[in-house]
Amino acid sequence: MSKKTKSNAGNGMYYPEESVVKRAHIKDYDSLYKESITNREEFWAKEAEKLFWYKKWDKVMDDSKRPFFKWFTGGKTNVIANAIDRHLESETKNKLAIIWEGEPGDKRTFSYFALNREVSKFANVLKAMGANKGDIITIYMPQIPEILIAMLACAKIGAAHSVVYGGFSVEALAERIADAHSRFLITADGGFRRGKPTNLKKIADEAMRRSPTIDICITVKRTGEECYMENDRDFWWHDLMGMPIASPVCPTEKTDAEDPLFILYTSGTTGKPKGLVHTHGGYSVYTATTFKYVFDIKPADRWWCAADPGWITGHSYIVYAPLINGATIMLYEGAPNHPYPNRWWQIIEKYGINIFYTSPTAIRGLMRYGASWADKHDLSSLRLMGSVGEPINPEAWKWYYEVIGKNRCPIMDTWWQTETGGFMITPLPVTPLKPGSATKPFFGNEVAVVDDSGKEVPAGTEGNLVIKNIWPGMARTILGDPDRYVEKYWKRYEEQCYYLTGDSAKMDEDGYVWIIGRNDDVMKVSGYRLGSAEIESALVSHPAVTEAAAIGLPDSLKGNIIHATVILKDGFSASDELTNELKKHVDNEIGPIARPAFIVYTDSLPKTRSGKIMRRVLKARALGQDEGDLSTLDE
Ligand code: WT7
Repeated sequence: MSKKTKSNAGNGMYYPEESVVKRAHIKDYDSLYKESITNREEFWAKEAEKLFWYKKWDKVMDDSKRPFFKWFTGGKTNVIANAIDRHLESETKNKLAIIWEGEPGDKRTFSYFALNREVSKFANVLKAMGANKGDIITIYMPQIPEILIAMLACAKIGAAHSVVYGGFSVEALAERIADAHSRFLITADGGFRRGKPTNLKKIADEAMRRSPTIDICITVKRTGEECYMENDRDFWWHDLMGMPIASPVCPTEKTDAEDPLFILYTSGTTGKPKGLVHTHGGYSVYTATTFKYVFDIKPADRWWCAADPGWITGHSYIVYAPLINGATIMLYEGAPNHPYPNRWWQIIEKYGINIFYTSPTAIRGLMRYGASWADKHDLSSLRLMGSVGEPINPEAWKWYYEVIGKNRCPIMDTWWQTETGGFMITPLPVTPLKPGSATKPFFGNEVAVVDDSGKEVPAGTEGNLVIKNIWPGMARTILGDPDRYVEKYWKRYEEQCYYLTGDSAKMDEDGYVWIIGRNDDVMKVSGYRLGSAEIESALVSHPAVTEAAAIGLPDSLKGNIIHATVILKDGFSASDELTNELKKHVDNEIGPIARPAFIVYTDSLPKTRSGKIMRRVLKARALGQDEGDLSTLDE
């Protein structure tokens, strides 16, 4: 029987066990933290020196063109030099880099040696097909090893990848391909999800029709479902990898520290997703350092981040940081509850996972099935656990801590964003925990909760969360739209030069940060970030709809669920059939994650005199609450 959850001091705090502290890389957070913010550049230089550089940097940090900051300028490296090449010179060479399990139960593993061979082969294929440094290659794939191989091969040749989450649909993919002017698309016929094959290639075909920049599309055969292959455009991965062009020897491109490693699109407040640009140098240093200290990674560890590689969580903490640290990565293709709700716990037991990282929404989803599914399995290999994506409610935290971690495994509640590249506010294994708080800033970071004028608010008061400093993993710009980058993140507190996170938060008397949620028109549905405007433009692209407004309503399972209000064009009338059709239409344009839970019909939307939809009013109406200050309403 497991002991009851401790809050071992009786004051709501959870202290780590002796054994956790004893083996932790960092035993004293406070003193190193102080040093890291007093001598920020020295701190990062020291961490950067632990990595391999073809040429050392001239300057750690360059703020001459603020807010377009640069890190390790003049330095030459490539994330691959650290994530793969360096390991071939050490005992890590024959260690497992990837353990993969498909949803149907098929398995594949890759040592670092094998991973290098596959990445080099695919890098040579890309070069032979005409890809170069400077290209942005779009990747749209299921959770199979080839998605990692494709990403790493792009990095190796100095091309940037733009991974589009495999759960997205036609319009979301098409507009990302168009924005990046991608000439190459790497995809698969499909993947397996809850026992059924998905049809990625079909979606890709339609997206390529809408965005005709793609010259070459390479498709992995995963499900074996039939798919359309166009002459001179479509190639099978396995055909190319079997040709002499796929030589297993490929030199790694010596990229500049500031060369782009990848573009990753995320939702903002306007309809058009933002392509955030991350670089080889600073991103390698930041993700590797945060991963090592927060998840306390050691050579014998098996690490499982149960996110999709298509999100920043996957980029930073499935792919790059673990490989740079020479860790063994678990990758699983399918759903956590297929065929039964013990699938994840079974995987932890079977492969002896030591550190496990997931989202509050997944925990809440599995919690519903009860503890008995987890109790069937020996989870004693676990040492540390993590949470990311949205605030974790204390009930879910406690369930995770007791039922999965057996009151032994500290939970690293990591707060960060696509924009930040890596963890910003997070415990370390030695940090006393308060369930629901992401605790304190990572080394080098100073955070504050401020009012609209930039003044820090008193402890316990809600305000805007800002970062007061810069850090190596920060996104450098928005692809093709530097003005929007300035506007979105730096304009608000220009004078103080604070980075605006878009989140509201509170800080308590102990300096612990409590995230409340987004305070812009961005919602978090099952941890996925979606903008009101994207859902609205998907709805408006349906022939029956003239105007739409989407808001997020609180939901105990998903965090937010989507509520849409639509105005129909003349000649159309509301019906259950139309509601279903509109939901399907959103599935088809953006993806099932964006499907509204509710659609209501109206003749007019509450707007300000300048014509902006007052989503706040819609939200109050949907929740039956007071509509608040209506002085700017134009009705
Ligand atoms: C937004 C960023 C970074 C990886 C996944 C999300 C919310 C993220 C936490 C956390 C409370 C969190 C914030 C943030 N968020 N982690 N531990 N506690 N909220 O990346 O899709 O760019 O979303 O996710 O609201 O702004 P993203």
